Amino acid sequence: MQNFTSFADAGDYKALLAKALEIKQNPYGYQHIGKNKTVGLIFFNPSLRTRLSSVKAAYNLGAQAWVLNAGADSWTLEMADGAVMNGGTQEHIKEAIAVMSQYCDVLGVRTFPTLKDRDEDYNEVVFKKIMQYATVPVVSLESATLHPLQSFADLITVAEHKQKERVKVVLTWAPHVRALPQCVPNSFADWFSEVDWVDFVITHPEGYELDPKFTKGARIEYDQKKALEGADFVQAKNWSSYQNYGQVLSNDPAWMLTPEHMTGTNNAKFLHCLPVRRNVEVSDAILDSPNSLVIQEAGNRVFSMQTVLHELLK
Ligand code: CP
Repeated sequence: MQNFTSFADAGDYKALLAKALEIKQNPYGYQHIGKNKTVGLIFFNPSLRTRLSSVKAAYNLGAQAWVLNAGADSWTLEMADGAVMNGGTQEHIKEAIAVMSQYCDVLGVRTFPTLKDRDEDYNEVVFKKIMQYATVPVVSLESATLHPLQSFADLITVAEHKQKERVKVVLTWAPHVRALPQCVPNSFADWFSEVDWVDFVITHPEGYELDPKFTKGARIEYDQKKALEGADFVQAKNWSSYQNYGQVLSNDPAWMLTPEHMTGTNNAKFLHCLPVRRNVEVSDAILDSPNSLVIQEAGNRVFSMQTVLHELLK
């Protein structure tokens, strides 16, 4: 593994999953790998889970970690090539990333999309610049289009809780009060459409189709009830439109998951990447039910990151 930005970087996903499950059983077993190593974490956007689980993952591996909130804790960064920096920006991303690379052995970066310019977001313009200027391996802590550490944690969670060889996993769109990125559902599709023991279905209102580059021919079912039939795992997430880029086309509360929605499932376990808007995306009754795995899923963020760091530092 050179960098970790998508499912493709995982290489042999079965081997990576097996390594994650092994590391979870023995979280301090590889401290020699992180000894005298430093993990740098740069956040251009807010985070709870990614920030804390990444620091914990580094510590478990015997490494040190530093966190920088770009802009808030540092100089205001200029992103544009060739910019005449006579305005508000004080340091170019070119120097900033090259300098930060001097202070760590792996660099984790979070850069959310604009949700205004689809070409810029889907070409990962900012993330690619960071990769270009970094001189150490880069881990996506969520880019403009993908959130691979989250999807890897989701895969670990499903693998741990599945009770039969093949399972049906449904990704359902959920309502929200704001326009959100497509990173989590793109990434979930990027990973779960490739898992050979998963029957993967995506359900959303018309107009919320994701980029086919990530759904990779997965079954799309516009009828949520039909999609949920026989599901073993249900992952809910809101996203804004990819086609009418960044727009909220519908906020139909009928799509909010309630126990009634789960009646046709195979007593499905519930997943959500968090943070979640209670009683907007999902009802309290789902989140507070014994079938909810959201806390275990967040816990597995440590082991997805720890496994990736293990691969990059070993
Ligand atoms: N799921 C997730 O990435 O959470 P944070 O945004 O809090 O890091």
